[in-house]
Amino acid sequence: MNTFVCGKCGYVAFDVAPDFCPVCWAKKEAFKLDSAAIKSPGGVQTGELEKKHIPQIKITKTCGLVGPGCVDANIKIGEILHPMEAKHYITHIDIYLNRAFIARYHLTPEKLNPALGIHLKVDAGKLLVLQNCNLHGRWVTETEI
Ligand SMILES: [Fe+2]
Repeated sequence: MNTFVCGKCGYVAFDVAPDFCPVCWAKKEAFKLDSAAIKSPGGVQTGELEKKHIPQIKITKTCGLVGPGCVDANIKIGEILHPMEAKHYITHIDIYLNRAFIARYHLTPEKLNPALGIHLKVDAGKLLVLQNCNLHGRWVTETEI
């Protein structure tokens, strides 16, 4: 799969570069093909690096906040929770539905857990979560809603 990275904000597009970046509105020319943009787990026996970076997704079909028609996706970064310290933290979490961008969540260190709850208006499709660690790069998980 081809991945194109926005040179301005680090947004990753799948398959083709968009006319405009949906995060920072940079033009298509700002995107560069980078097939190594996303880290992949190193085999069946994943180590501590993978356990601290691969997003975990929990889908709940009945939302307690918005009501009927809302599907919750609770996301945390790492089976072992990733650090959120000034020198090492998760900078943002990008959310895609069927590989189309729907949201970016910016994080700051110290006061936040590397976790997020989102409320979807759809009850089917593939949810992809991409997180960026300031030291260890981008990691992805994709799951069926
Ligand atoms: Fe990290």
